[in-house]
Amino acid sequence: IPVDRFDLVIFGATGDLANRKILPGLFRRFCAGQIPEGSQIIGAARSEMSPEEFREQTAAAIAEFGGKQSGDRESLKGFLALLDYVPIDAKGEQGWEALKSKVRPEEINAFYFSVAPALFGDLAERLHKRGIAGKDSRIVVEKPFGRDLASARALNATLAKHFDETQIYRIDHYLGKETVQNLMAVRFANILFEPLWNSQFVDHVQITVAETVGVGGRGSYYDKSGAMRDMVQNHLMQLLCLIAMEPPYHFDPDAVRDEKLKVIRALQPVAPADMVRGQYQASKDAPGYLEDAENPASKTESYIAMKCHIANWRWVNTPFYLRTGKRLRARTSEIAITFKEPPHLIFDEAEGEWRENVLVIRLQPNEGMNLKMMIKEPGPGGMRLVQVPLDMSFAEALGEEADITDAYERLIMDVIRGNQTLFMRGDEVEAAWAWTDPIIEGWEERGDKPQPYDSGSSGPDDALMLMHRDGRRWREIRE
Ligand code: BG6
Repeated sequence: IPVDRFDLVIFGATGDLANRKILPGLFRRFCAGQIPEGSQIIGAARSEMSPEEFREQTAAAIAEFGGKQSGDRESLKGFLALLDYVPIDAKGEQGWEALKSKVRPEEINAFYFSVAPALFGDLAERLHKRGIAGKDSRIVVEKPFGRDLASARALNATLAKHFDETQIYRIDHYLGKETVQNLMAVRFANILFEPLWNSQFVDHVQITVAETVGVGGRGSYYDKSGAMRDMVQNHLMQLLCLIAMEPPYHFDPDAVRDEKLKVIRALQPVAPADMVRGQYQASKDAPGYLEDAENPASKTESYIAMKCHIANWRWVNTPFYLRTGKRLRARTSEIAITFKEPPHLIFDEAEGEWRENVLVIRLQPNEGMNLKMMIKEPGPGGMRLVQVPLDMSFAEALGEEADITDAYERLIMDVIRGNQTLFMRGDEVEAAWAWTDPIIEGWEERGDKPQPYDSGSSGPDDALMLMHRDGRRWREIRE
């Protein structure tokens, strides 16, 4: 969908996220012809730097993170010509008049807060009070959105002083992933699955986000957060919502977000016995969590597995097992929906072992879907049942048309389009913290320590038990 020309201001334009994701992402959208002529991308940060130096810095970032178009010199030149830079003091006076003179109030304008949350209030206030942002301007804020319910509420209240909820775009980059959006298409544009999508037919759901990286380099942030705050409260929660929500009446921002909110509110407290936390150990060639976090006494988890229940008619008897961790054996994210046995099996054991139907939605790598089905083994040997995958890789199925855009670039373009569907609403974030807080408080009160697990493994042994004792098994973590 084409967009009109726009002004995008990136606060924190010299930072890591801007260089790795935002600027290279915008460049790729420029190459795809989606950034109209006359648009401006204005970097703003504390560093004293000329617009020319900012362009050089951006060119270097594109060379490193721009992907296959980064060698396209003509496009690079065109893109760099859209860039400008203003040194700015978020807490002071410097730079704000210069910024005001550049941002055109009559154009679509958006302000990306790629800075520490402690500065959100200062930026929002200055943009509003100085008349740089108007009633149609948009602000984009990054996670972490608070570290508990109280801080998230305070942040929401600060932003609400200067901006309306319809102007606030809270990013959860998982919502920008191709397959995550595909979840909605698969569920609501096909009749096949929805009639089976409930406790009567779904045995359980597994959501896995496994990473191979450790926390080295960002240990001081991570140690205050842990897997629960860093991944579960936001990314895994969003995945769970999209799987569990009722059909929205329309694919419309508030209709979708209303349904997600209901799921979060229906999530039950998690009993300590239904959770396993872990911390990765040093391996031959890499340090362990405690060293990465530079905190030998840390009780922060780099892995968590949990069994969750959603108390509503649709899901009352279907557990949702979630797990995520660092330094695991493969980088893989997927959702697996395991269906129940047919009500009556007409085949004998001699005819082969019956296995459950499983629908696997692969988020990364190799985005796609896989439906495991029972069929008859081909051949003249009589009835022999065998399970086969109905496997679809989006890249293979759609070939050239499979434009698997990076999550950030899609979300930034949605900001420009003014579409909030893939952004978290304030009440959603608060509800997610309201569920998370008592879990974390429980660990703190009990002094719970995470279990060690080997780097490159599938996580702590007790996580296996979490499913075994229910007569179920985690899917293997592999690419
Ligand atoms: C971020 C977390 O939000 O998501 C990181 O802070 C994590 O700890 C990252 O590594 C994972 O994102 P992706 O897109 O690589 O799966």
